[in-house]
Amino acid sequence: MLETVVKRERDFGTPASISTQTIQITIDGTEVDVAVGTSVMRAAAEAGINIPKLCASDNLEAFGSCRLCLVQIEGRRGYPASCTTPVEAGMVIWTETPKLHELRRGVMELYISDHPLDCLTCPANGDCELQDMAGVVGLRNVRYGYNGASHLHDATDDSNPYFAYDPSKCIVCSRCVRACDEVQGTFALTVDGRGFASRIAAGQNDSFLESDCVSCGACVQACPTSSLIEKTVIDMGQSEHSVITTCAYCGVGCAFKAEMKGQEVVRMVPWKDGKANHGHSCVKGRFAWGYATHQDRMLKPMIRSDISQPWREVSWDEAIGYAASELKRIQSKYGRDSIGGITSSRCTNEETYLVQKLVRAAFGTNNVDTCARVCHSPTGYGLKTTLGESAGTQTFDSVMHTDVIIIMGANPSAAHPVFASRLKRRLREGAKLIVIDPRQIEFVNAPHVKADYHLPVRPGTNTALLTSMAHVIATEGLVDEAFVAERCEAPAFQQWRDFVSRPENSPEAMEDVTGVSALDLRAAARLFATHGNGSIYYGLGVTEHSQGSTTVMAIANLAMATGNLGREGVGVNPLRGQNNVQGSCDMGSFPHELPGYRHISDDTVRAQFEQDWGVKLQPEPGLRIPNMFDAAISGSFKGLYCQGEDIVQSDPNTQHVAKALASMECIIVQDIFLNETAKYAHVFLPGSSFLEKDGTFTNAERRISRVRQVMQPKAGLADWEVTCALSNALGYPMNYSHPSQIMDEIARLTPTFSGVSFKKIDELGGSVQWPCNAEAPDGTPIMHVDEFVRGKGRFMITKYVPSDERSTRKYPLLLTTGRILSQYNVGAQTRRTPNVLWHSEDVLEMHPHDAEDRGIRHGDMVAIQSRAGETVLRADITERVQPGVVYTTFHFPESGANVVTTDNTDWATDCPEYKVTAVQARLVSEPSTWQAGWSRFSDVQQSLLDGRQREGQKLEQPAATPAQPAQPITEPAPILSSQE
Ligand code: SF4
Ligand code: SF4
Ligand code: SF4
Ligand code: FES
Repeated sequence: MLETVVKRERDFGTPASISTQTIQITIDGTEVDVAVGTSVMRAAAEAGINIPKLCASDNLEAFGSCRLCLVQIEGRRGYPASCTTPVEAGMVIWTETPKLHELRRGVMELYISDHPLDCLTCPANGDCELQDMAGVVGLRNVRYGYNGASHLHDATDDSNPYFAYDPSKCIVCSRCVRACDEVQGTFALTVDGRGFASRIAAGQNDSFLESDCVSCGACVQACPTSSLIEKTVIDMGQSEHSVITTCAYCGVGCAFKAEMKGQEVVRMVPWKDGKANHGHSCVKGRFAWGYATHQDRMLKPMIRSDISQPWREVSWDEAIGYAASELKRIQSKYGRDSIGGITSSRCTNEETYLVQKLVRAAFGTNNVDTCARVCHSPTGYGLKTTLGESAGTQTFDSVMHTDVIIIMGANPSAAHPVFASRLKRRLREGAKLIVIDPRQIEFVNAPHVKADYHLPVRPGTNTALLTSMAHVIATEGLVDEAFVAERCEAPAFQQWRDFVSRPENSPEAMEDVTGVSALDLRAAARLFATHGNGSIYYGLGVTEHSQGSTTVMAIANLAMATGNLGREGVGVNPLRGQNNVQGSCDMGSFPHELPGYRHISDDTVRAQFEQDWGVKLQPEPGLRIPNMFDAAISGSFKGLYCQGEDIVQSDPNTQHVAKALASMECIIVQDIFLNETAKYAHVFLPGSSFLEKDGTFTNAERRISRVRQVMQPKAGLADWEVTCALSNALGYPMNYSHPSQIMDEIARLTPTFSGVSFKKIDELGGSVQWPCNAEAPDGTPIMHVDEFVRGKGRFMITKYVPSDERSTRKYPLLLTTGRILSQYNVGAQTRRTPNVLWHSEDVLEMHPHDAEDRGIRHGDMVAIQSRAGETVLRADITERVQPGVVYTTFHFPESGANVVTTDNTDWATDCPEYKVTAVQARLVSEPSTWQAGWSRFSDVQQSLLDGRQREGQKLEQPAATPAQPAQPITEPAPILSSQE
C-alpha cells in the first residue's frame, strides 16, 4: 500500500532534462553519467548528494537568487550556483569544501538576521526548509543581530479562507511567484520593492482574496518557510501520518497526500508522483474537502412510507430490510421491470460495478443508467462508432507535445484547472490555440495566453461549424492522405469527402448558421491541418446538444482526416466533468452495456456474466433515465435506487423530474447529504465520502487511480457494503470482504481490465491506464497507435440538423450553461465549504446590448422564461457572451437553471440539450413562483439544525442567497428524528 510518513518528497532542485544524450562528470570524486542539459545541482542530487538550497525546486526553472547552493568546479573561477550551472562533459565538481561551508554559513547568517526566531511556536516547526538549511550549513551564530529591519512587523494577510501570508517569515526566494507563473499560470504575485525592503505582493490591494489568485495552493506548496501556510496547519499543528488517495471532484483525477492526525485531515497536499497532476492542484481538491465532516452529513438511515409522512431514523438493518421488501412488493405488483437503479459518477468503480450488478442480477432487469447519460454519453457513442473505443485517446502529458490545440465547448480553467495549467504552459511555449465556444472563456485572453482564433459559435450549431472546417480541409488539399489510406475505411472516407465538399457545407454558406466569420473559420481550419501535431479537447459544450453524438463524430472525423491520432501530442480528448464519469461508463452502467462496453444482447458476453454471477440475465436493454421518468409518469415504473446523484437538481426540466419521482412508490436515495431528490424518497441510506472508502476512480485519460480510506465511514458502512446488504436482503448473495475483490471480479469479466488489480496499481506507482491486459501489462497511455480499436477508422456523415430550440420572437435569447472554478456540479460539496466566498450565487451573464434593450442593469434581478419554466437570476452584464446569448451556472438549487432547460435530447443517446434553451428575459423585482416555494435546507436538515441550535452547538450556515424562499417544490414532510 502506498502509505507514506514522508513529510516532503525528495526535491532534485531543478527539472529533469528531456535529453536522451548523456555525458560523464565527476562529483566529489565519483564519476557519474547525466543527461545533457542537467544542472549541477540535479546531477548531484541524482547521485545522492544534496547540495543546500532555498530558492530552487524541481518543479520550477532555476532562479539563482539565494546563493546557498554554491559549488567549486575545477578550472573555473569563483563559486557558481549549482542550480543555474548546466553540466559539461568532464566537469569535476566539489560540493563540500571548507570554503563552501564558510560561504553558505554567511548566506544563512544574513537570512536569519532578518527572520523572527520563534521556531518553537512557528506552525512550520519541523517542516521548514529554512530551519533545515540552518542545520545543514551548521549555523551557530549571527554576527548581524536578529533585528532585521525589513518586515518583521508587517501584518499577516489572512484574507484567503484557506491559507495565510505572513511577510515576517518571507525570505523573498520568489518560489511562490514562480509557482504561480510557471506551475499555475495565473501570474497573481509579484516581488514588490527592492533589496531588504522587497516583499511579495498579491494584486493592487495586497490582498490574496482581492487579487487574481485562484487559490490553487501552488505558492503555499512552494514556500520553504511558514510565510505561506495552510490555516488548518496553523490551527491543528503538523500531521502524524499520510495516505495517498485521489481527488473526488473533477475528471483530472489529481493524486493527493492526505496528511492526517488520527482520523482528522490536517491538509491535502497534491502528490508529486501523481501522474495526472505531478504535484499540482486546484482550490477544490486542495482545500474544499471540509464538506466531508460538515454538520449537514446525514449519518442515520431513515425511512417513511409516504413522502408526506415524517422521516423516521432507523437501524441499517431496518432500512435495508424495508427497502428490499418494498422493491419486492413493487415487482410482484407491477412486474420485474417496474424498478431500476442509477449509478454515480462520483462513486468508485467498485461501487458503480456493484450497483449495476445489483440491478441486473438481484432486480433481474437492465433498468440501470448513470449520470453520464446527462453529460458524456454522446462521447461514448461517437468515439465507439468512429474509432472503436468509448474513451479519450491520450494522457494529459501528451499536450506537452502538441503544436496546435482546439478547445471546443469546454472551459478548462474552470472545470479542469490542473490540466488547464499544463495547457497554458504548452501555449506559453508557443503552441497555437483555437477556441470554439459561444462565450469568451478565459483561454481566449488569459495572462500570457491568447487564442489565435476564437470562433464564437452560435449555441446549437457545432456540427455545422465542424463540417465547414472539414470542408476547408477536404477542398483545399489538406487531408493527410497517407494516414487516411492506411488507417481508415476507404468507402466511408470517400462518402465523407464528397459530403463535406458540397458547397452548402462551405464556411461561407454556414456563416449565417454558425455566426462565425468564414474568413476566421478558413484560417483556423488551415492552422489546425498544417501546424504539426494537432489535438482536440472538448467538453459538455459539445455533448449536451441534440446533435451531441454527431459533433463528437465530427471531431473524430477531423482528427482522422488530418492524421492526428495514434501518437503523442495529438488525439481526441473528452474532458470528463466528474471524477469517475469514465469509470461509471466503463463499469457497465448503461442499460444496453455490460462492463467494458459489451452489448447486453451479445449471447457470448452475457453467458460469461451469467456463469460468474450465477443468475440469468435479460438480453434486452433496459430503460435510460429519461425513459424511467416517462414510465414513472405513465405508471409502469415504480421503484428506484439512486446512489450519489441528485437527479432533481442535475437533470433537465425539473418539473418533469419532480412529477416522475412523485409518481413512484419507493425511491431509495443514498447520499452524504439529504439532497433535493431525497425530498421524494422513502428510504434514505447515508453515503460515505471519498475519504471514507477504498477503491478506484478512472479519470479522463482512462487512468485508474487508487482511492484509499483515510477515516472510518461516518455512518458505519462504506457505500459498497450498503449495496451488498441490499442485494443480500433481496436474496441475491453478494459477499466481498474488501473492494479489491470487486476489482478482481471486474478484471475477470472485462478484457480491457484483465490485468488490473489493486496490487498491480500499487506496483505501477498508484495508477494505470486501461486497456491493461496481457497485450498491455503496464497499461495503455495512448490509444489507436498502429490501428484503431475497431480496425479501420470510420468516417461518419455529419449532416447539420437545427435544434428545435431556436430563438423566436417569443424566446429571442439562447441560454447556455457552464461551470465556475470554485463550485462543483450541483454544489452539494463545495457549497458546504468556504468556496462560497468566490461564488455565492449563480448569475445570468448578458451582453450589454441585450441588457440595454430590456432596461436591465448590472445586478438587477432578471426573470428568464423558456417553454419549460421560469426562474430569476441576478444579471451580470458582460461582453464575455455575444449578443443573443445568455449564460448561467447551475451550482445552486435555488437558481433553477434546470427549471428552464427543456427535455430535448441528443438523437442517439438521450443526453439532454442543456446548452441550448430559447428564453426571454425581463426585469423583475421578485423571485419566480417556483423559487418562492423552495427551501435551502430540506425539512429534515432544518429540524436537525434547529435541534443543534437548541443544544447550543456551533453552526456553519451556508452563505446567504438572493432568493430565500421557504418550501420545496412539492410540499415537504415533517421530520421525526432522534435529535428532536
Ligand atoms: S512567501 Fe515563501 S515562497 Fe514566497 S518569497 Fe516568501 S519565503 Fe519565498
Ligand atoms: S494560490 Fe495559486 S493562484 Fe493564488 S497566488 Fe498562489 S499560486 Fe497563484
Ligand atoms: S483539478 Fe480536478 S481532480 Fe485536480 S484537484 Fe482540482 S478538482 Fe481535484
Ligand atoms: S538554490 Fe541555487 S541560488 Fe538558490
